[in-house]
Amino acid sequence: MDNNQSVCDTMLDVPKSVAPQAQKFTAVFIKLFEHQWKTYEGQKKVSTSYQYILYEFYANSNTHSKMSARKFCVGGNWKMNGDQKSIAEISKTLSGAALDPNTEVVIGCPAIYLMYARNLLPCTVGVAGQNAYKVAKGAFTGEISPAMLKDIGADWVILGHSERRAIFNESDELIAEKAEHALAEGLKVIACIGETLDEREAGKTNEVVARQMCAYAKKVRDWTNVVVAYEPVWAIGTGKTATPEQAQEVHAFLRQWLTDNISKEVSAALRIQYGGSVTAANAKDLAKKPDIDGFLVGGASLKPEFVDIINARQ
Ligand code: PGA
Repeated sequence: MDNNQSVCDTMLDVPKSVAPQAQKFTAVFIKLFEHQWKTYEGQKKVSTSYQYILYEFYANSNTHSKMSARKFCVGGNWKMNGDQKSIAEISKTLSGAALDPNTEVVIGCPAIYLMYARNLLPCTVGVAGQNAYKVAKGAFTGEISPAMLKDIGADWVILGHSERRAIFNESDELIAEKAEHALAEGLKVIACIGETLDEREAGKTNEVVARQMCAYAKKVRDWTNVVVAYEPVWAIGTGKTATPEQAQEVHAFLRQWLTDNISKEVSAALRIQYGGSVTAANAKDLAKKPDIDGFLVGGASLKPEFVDIINARQ
């Protein structure tokens, strides 16, 4: 770098997805410490990761001053959708948008496109596998492991989705074993639960979600890297969203279940997402509920309105 050139001139490549206030904060911080920055070797190479750290610092300091200590977390679940062209378009939309720095964003991408999406999505957006097996490697044709996800830069995995339970016959036990292994390998887990319409109509919602949580609890020792996604099956892909009150009722039940069965601390800290036909039109009202800490979004995560869902708390 030319010695007369300001560090700010070369380093203000803050991700476009970072909201203007976070960009300003990062710029001011770098300006203040300009002298020290000049002493580093190879600033250009490290600049992006340092900016990301600053951005995270900003986002976290803001979160803690807010009502809930739980950082809002929005997942996009692309399921078996997309191709290179549409993934490039979605990534461009997310890179160009001002995303709320107080919201953690993660995209569940088809396995074959994970690396491609990782390279195109903003660095502030996490990437998730939509499934992973319960062991590191071996003769399991067609499966992928948490170690492989980590290897290509994914840091999350979605487990226990109702489509995996219903279509691929995954049991509570298998899903819990997968969660245990994924956590041990250092992945973060979106652990899905939820009742079917028949179960809801039979008044069994709480019983079903408690059973699913019990299975996870038998295998999970540390809940720090877990986000629970409550997704009533009757609301998934049907356009029938649970009302904010219906969702809050189950989230409050889960919060109490965690207090009674795990600990007060885990109950206070664990994030519980709502999933099932979340759209830009209903996200704001759902996000106002005290125990809803984010969303897992299917169909709408493939559309530009996903940005408004991410920003639902603004
Ligand atoms: P949906 O899917 O938003 O299309 O209802 C949610 C999900 O399956 O995670």
